[in-house]
Amino acid sequence: MLVSDLASVLLRLSVVAVCNAAVYDSFSSLPTTNYDFVIVGGGTAGNVLANRLTEDPKISVLVLEAGGTNSNAFQLDVPLFSLNLKFQYDWNFTTTIQPGLSNRSTFMPRGFVLGGSSSVNGMFYTRGSADDYDRFAAVTGDAGWSWDNLQPYLAKNEKWEPPADRQNTTGQFNPAVHSTTGINAVTLSGFPQSIDPMVFKAVDELGGIFHFNEDYNSGKPLGFGWLQHTITTQGRRSSSATSYLASQFISRTNLDVLLHARVSRILPSSSQTSSSGFAFRIVEFAQDLDGPLLQVEASKEVILSAGVFGSPHILLNSGIGDSRELSDVGIKPLVDLPSVGKNLSDQPAVFNTFFTNSTRTNDDILRNATLLNQVYTEFNKTGMGPLVTTGGNQISFYRVSENLTDRFGDPSSGKDSPHLEMVPGNGFFGTPPPTGHYFQLGTVVVSPASRGSVTINSTNPFDPPLIDPAYLTSPFDIAAMREAEHIMFQYASAPVWDGYILSPFGALENITASSPDDVLDEFIRNNVGSSAHPVGTAAMSAKNADYGVVDPDLRVKGVDGLRIIDASVFPFVTSGHTQAPTYAIAERAAALVQAAWV
Ligand SMILES: Cc1cc2nc3c(=O)[nH]c(=O)nc-3n(C[C@H](O)[C@H](O)[C@H](O)COP(=O)(O)OP(=O)(O)OC[C@H]3O[C@@H](n4cnc5c(N)ncnc54)[C@H](O)[C@@H]3O)c2cc1C
Ligand SMILES: *[C@@H]1O[C@H](CO)[C@@H](O)[C@H](O)[C@H]1NC(C)=O
Ligand SMILES: *[C@@H]1O[C@H](CO)[C@@H](O)[C@H](O)[C@H]1NC(C)=O
Ligand SMILES: *[C@@H]1O[C@H](CO)[C@@H](O)[C@H](O)[C@H]1NC(C)=O
Ligand SMILES: *[C@@H]1O[C@H](CO)[C@@H](O)[C@H](O)[C@H]1NC(C)=O
Ligand SMILES: *[C@@H]1O[C@H](CO)[C@@H](O)[C@H](O)[C@H]1NC(C)=O
Ligand SMILES: *[C@@H]1O[C@H](CO)[C@@H](O)[C@H](O)[C@H]1NC(C)=O
Ligand SMILES: *[C@@H]1O[C@H](CO)[C@@H](O)[C@H](O)[C@H]1NC(C)=O
Ligand SMILES: *[C@@H]1O[C@H](CO)[C@@H](O)[C@H](O)[C@H]1NC(C)=O
Ligand SMILES: *[C@@H]1O[C@H](CO)[C@@H](O)[C@H](O)[C@H]1NC(C)=O
Ligand SMILES: *[C@@H]1O[C@H](CO)[C@@H](O)[C@H](O)[C@H]1NC(C)=O
Repeated sequence: MLVSDLASVLLRLSVVAVCNAAVYDSFSSLPTTNYDFVIVGGGTAGNVLANRLTEDPKISVLVLEAGGTNSNAFQLDVPLFSLNLKFQYDWNFTTTIQPGLSNRSTFMPRGFVLGGSSSVNGMFYTRGSADDYDRFAAVTGDAGWSWDNLQPYLAKNEKWEPPADRQNTTGQFNPAVHSTTGINAVTLSGFPQSIDPMVFKAVDELGGIFHFNEDYNSGKPLGFGWLQHTITTQGRRSSSATSYLASQFISRTNLDVLLHARVSRILPSSSQTSSSGFAFRIVEFAQDLDGPLLQVEASKEVILSAGVFGSPHILLNSGIGDSRELSDVGIKPLVDLPSVGKNLSDQPAVFNTFFTNSTRTNDDILRNATLLNQVYTEFNKTGMGPLVTTGGNQISFYRVSENLTDRFGDPSSGKDSPHLEMVPGNGFFGTPPPTGHYFQLGTVVVSPASRGSVTINSTNPFDPPLIDPAYLTSPFDIAAMREAEHIMFQYASAPVWDGYILSPFGALENITASSPDDVLDEFIRNNVGSSAHPVGTAAMSAKNADYGVVDPDLRVKGVDGLRIIDASVFPFVTSGHTQAPTYAIAERAAALVQAAWV
């Protein structure tokens, strides 16, 4: 090897070492066990906090993440691979038996890797409606959570970029409602799907509830629009790990991240007990689940960002929850907070699949190794090609009929807010069958009324929690999903799909547009799964409310030194996918924490 080559290798190695200096695999290498802030969970929200709080070089932050690094997990970078779930990077949760789903239990994905669910999600960027946030403000009594007042925080998160193929995007979005100065990349599709022209032709042919919406992220999502997603102009996934922990941030000397650190409990620090009750500033965790329990301490605050299951699970393990329920399990109650783990809300989803006559779908890419190698080589070289999308380039939102809201009440946040979502996909979702080409119309109830819970049945903090989303237990939700299936069939009946859509695939064979309600219901209950958007298990509520887990400033009620900042705090699910709202909440929360410690 030439000396100059050796020198350049050494130089590169040292740069890598410097960039990763703050990411540790082992507790024994941590420089200290005392930090100003300890953040539990290096996920979507947690990494926003890690980034913002360390803007001040005097503030020290430790992030404890149960999963491993994202930096050698190359498949997570490739948008199209998000169609296949990655168990290696998942918590592998399943729900309890669901009476609303014909007594099935169903998979509940959650990211188990730095970046959390933002490292494994479908990358859809949907803010929800303005009404959603105005309802947050109304129920919490804090105008800071309103749509208008959250705009600066949406802007601090979003970094709008040109799509990978640099196509002309005029008319596909409204630049006035986007920010180019944030941290997390958002872009339009960087690769056309063969179905793109047909998708909008069908909208024109049908009219009515099917109408074009130039930008569904304007606060008014109803209609059919071009999908925006958290993908970079290089065609790569933009997660909280790749963006908020990018090398210029993770290299800050006041930021440490410890991987493979599974938090069991937070403990009261007796020396810091205040008049308002317990102060919880000690964090207990393990690196080896059969090994010793370790501790670190925060001098200012512990921030739980362990997600919609992790955060309530840790609270319950710590004796913060419904005192009677905790005693029944054998856990000593310390703080009676009956709402912990309650009001879990998730959106039920169905993948409706048809055979298509086209061969220009994504199916071959995901099942033909030769073809995959070709497009993956192109992706690696140019950041372009079919791997830079998530398999579909549009999204659409609808309200249910007034008949339905008259009968069951309206769980949505307002008249401009959808109850239903429908997403076209140019191929099978998941690993496609060995043969056949597919067209997909996913349907989701984005404003569900059902509420479930997260509970524990064990004193072992490393046993999984019991996750009960109570899918389709509210009469609104099953009726709404029925309407979603009707909308789906109506859309599929547009003339443009003649000859393109051949026949229903799999379970969809069992229903048609004219199936009676009980047949539709059976199909729905047999086929609904999670949309992967659970929220609400540590909900914020007004300061004087008799329910809720955190105050509007996200401090745990009746406790010192502890906040929850993640998707657990949504008081209602926003009427779309949940990462953009999680980022916005985390950005505002970071500002609230900073303001409290100036
Ligand atoms: C498969 C999938 C697809 C999705 N698709 C989309 C989409 O296309 N668009 C969209 O907007 N939203 C999508 N979502 C939802 C969205 O990603 C989540 O709502 C959002 O990321 C939640 O952020 P969070 O910070 O609350 O939790 P997370 O990002 O999940 O972060 C929680 C972190 O805490 C860690 N953790 C948990 N427990 C512990 C513990 N005890 N100790 C230490 N660390 C712990 C976890 O490992 C994780 O890193 C999807 C989610 C999934 C899982
Ligand atoms: C989930 O299962 C996969 C293997 O199927 C494993 O690699 C991963 O560690 C599991 N996740 C957790 C949190 O145990
Ligand atoms: C679900 O289980 C309950 C309780 O075991 C039972 O009463 C009910 O009939 C079951 N429902 C279905 C659809 O199997
Ligand atoms: C982009 O498309 C718009 C609308 O189709 C057109 O008016 C504009 O000239 C195009 N811009 C470029 C640079 O081609
Ligand atoms: C669930 O949320 C509703 C508001 O949507 C609230 O009235 C109720 O008290 C909450 N329940 C619990 C147990 O927190
Ligand atoms: C698919 O389309 C081709 C070309 O239009 C036609 O010849 C063929 O019969 C079609 N196949 C089916 C199954 O409809
Ligand atoms: C797989 O893809 C390659 C490259 O496009 C192609 O030549 C081959 O015929 C395909 N194999 C199958 C079984 O379709
Ligand atoms: C693309 O790059 C990734 C990351 O370096 C590598 O793991 C993968 O094998 C590459 N794929 C091809 C087809 O070159
Ligand atoms: C409303 O729904 C009920 C129950 O499905 C149905 O009987 C009734 O005809 C509907 N009314 C209208 C106006 O659609
Ligand atoms: C807790 O629930 C799980 C899942 O239902 C079950 O496997 C386990 O046996 C239960 N543990 C106890 C102690 O009841
Ligand atoms: C059609 O429904 C029946 C009854 O629920 C079920 O057994 C069957 O598996 C379904 N067909 C398909 C293709 O899923």
